Amino acid sequence: MSYTITTPLYYVNDKPHLGSIYTTIACDVLARYKRLNGENVIFITGVDEHGLKIQRTANLNNVSPQNHCNRITSQYQSQWDEWRVSNHKFVRTTSNTHKRVVKEFFNKVKANDDIYLGRQQGWYCVGCEEYKEITEDTERPFCNIHQKGLEWRDEENLFFKLSNYQKEIEELINSDYFIYPIQRRNEIINFVKGGLRDFSISRVNLDWGIDVPGFPGHTFYVWFDALAGYLSSLLIDQQSEINLDNISNLGWPVDIHVIGKDILRFHAVYWPAMLLSAKLPLPKSVFGHGFLTREGQKMGKSLGNVLDPRTLLDAFGVDPIRWFLIRDIQFGSDGDFKQLRFVDTVNNDLANTFGNLLNRTVTMSRKWYCESIPQPNNKISNHLSDISHEVITKYFKYMDQLNFQKAAELILKLSTAANVYLNDQCPWTKIKDPANKDVVANILYSVLETCRISAILLQPIIPDFSNKMLLQLGIENSTIQFDESLKWGLLKSDTKLPEPNPILVRLELNENM
Ligand code: MSP
Repeated sequence: MSYTITTPLYYVNDKPHLGSIYTTIACDVLARYKRLNGENVIFITGVDEHGLKIQRTANLNNVSPQNHCNRITSQYQSQWDEWRVSNHKFVRTTSNTHKRVVKEFFNKVKANDDIYLGRQQGWYCVGCEEYKEITEDTERPFCNIHQKGLEWRDEENLFFKLSNYQKEIEELINSDYFIYPIQRRNEIINFVKGGLRDFSISRVNLDWGIDVPGFPGHTFYVWFDALAGYLSSLLIDQQSEINLDNISNLGWPVDIHVIGKDILRFHAVYWPAMLLSAKLPLPKSVFGHGFLTREGQKMGKSLGNVLDPRTLLDAFGVDPIRWFLIRDIQFGSDGDFKQLRFVDTVNNDLANTFGNLLNRTVTMSRKWYCESIPQPNNKISNHLSDISHEVITKYFKYMDQLNFQKAAELILKLSTAANVYLNDQCPWTKIKDPANKDVVANILYSVLETCRISAILLQPIIPDFSNKMLLQLGIENSTIQFDESLKWGLLKSDTKLPEPNPILVRLELNENM
């Protein structure tokens, strides 16, 4: 059995921005967590390379659309590596496999009698690549997301009979296990209640797309093309004939599509209906997360306040940003990136609560116990082992619910308890009396063990930071199973402790940002 996770396939009209990084990091946290739990994870991400938006951007830059896509796509691929994204599959919708998959998928939908030629008239937003419902009576309707006027279209398109799937889609979205978080479910239920209308799946006069077989002059609508990318990602290595009916052996259906709230409708309504038509299994769930703002303002090029992930990476490094996005924002709700808050949070949590605790405890252990982990005379239970036990149980619960913020808070709670314990116990005073050597060994061992457990729990969120903590404890490449490794008392006494280094150097505000 596998567990398949997807990010959206990002438009390559521009390089990655913090919003795309956010979605992908959240998926990575989930993928790493599931993997640690022994699941065979298939983590899919990629890029959406066709459509008018991309064609126009390439024209503006005086390059061919393919060259433009190659340039931006390689930036996505290299950034994903730098952000420590552990995806297995990276799909490009300009790949030959994908083009074959889209055609094969279309043939199945057509064979099910769900395609017809019709006339499409309406107001189109190129930024959203979507026809918009117009309720107000204005001469030139406007897209609130892109802050641009809509374009009038009147052309012959192929249509998909979405209306055929009203009943099945209603059943699906009403289930308790399909749309997450719960607060987004109603929005989709209301939309579907209004009655599903057929939508156009081809465009004429648009070269930058995949040709529709049997309909010269038509290319596929970019969403019909891109959604099928989830299927092609699993078939990418297949040289032979594309056989969609075999896909169940390759990790289909998807367990969770993680996307922003802006494209929930496409994933929770259109896509399942398309799959029903092609007689392919439906995704098990869809999670629509919130949007990021910067200093309380929507990020946008026109506002000149887009946060460039490259600049962020160079200024602060991966772990601080991963930590902040996961720990500060309730996954599912909107979140804000304020530099001051970011710097304070990271310094308090990573540099002080985790880093400094480890650093000073290692220093004391090295000084008083031959540069090694002290030998406690009672490993079994104390105040910290009780808290650790409670934290671990809740951590699994929250991670399973994708409540990453609460899981992060729990790890902090554990480390904060260890900091308080250390200050209360004052081993630096106790050690002055040689009779207390065993007592102090117990204290230091418990705190180091708490650090080990915290580091393991941090693995999915900030893998590099976690690894540095483990190395500081003399632990290299532990192969032990996740749940096994969380048992209290596994830290090996007498292990040599390397000289401590700050795990994270405190961040400073960056005025150029
Ligand atoms: N290409 C389509 C998706 C096709 S999936 C088969 C698309 N691409 S996109 O690049 O415009 O946006 C993809 C996703 O980026 C959004 O759904 C969302 O996940 C993320 N974000 C874009 N801006 C964002 C923020 N400001 N904040 C958080 N995430 C946002 O739509």
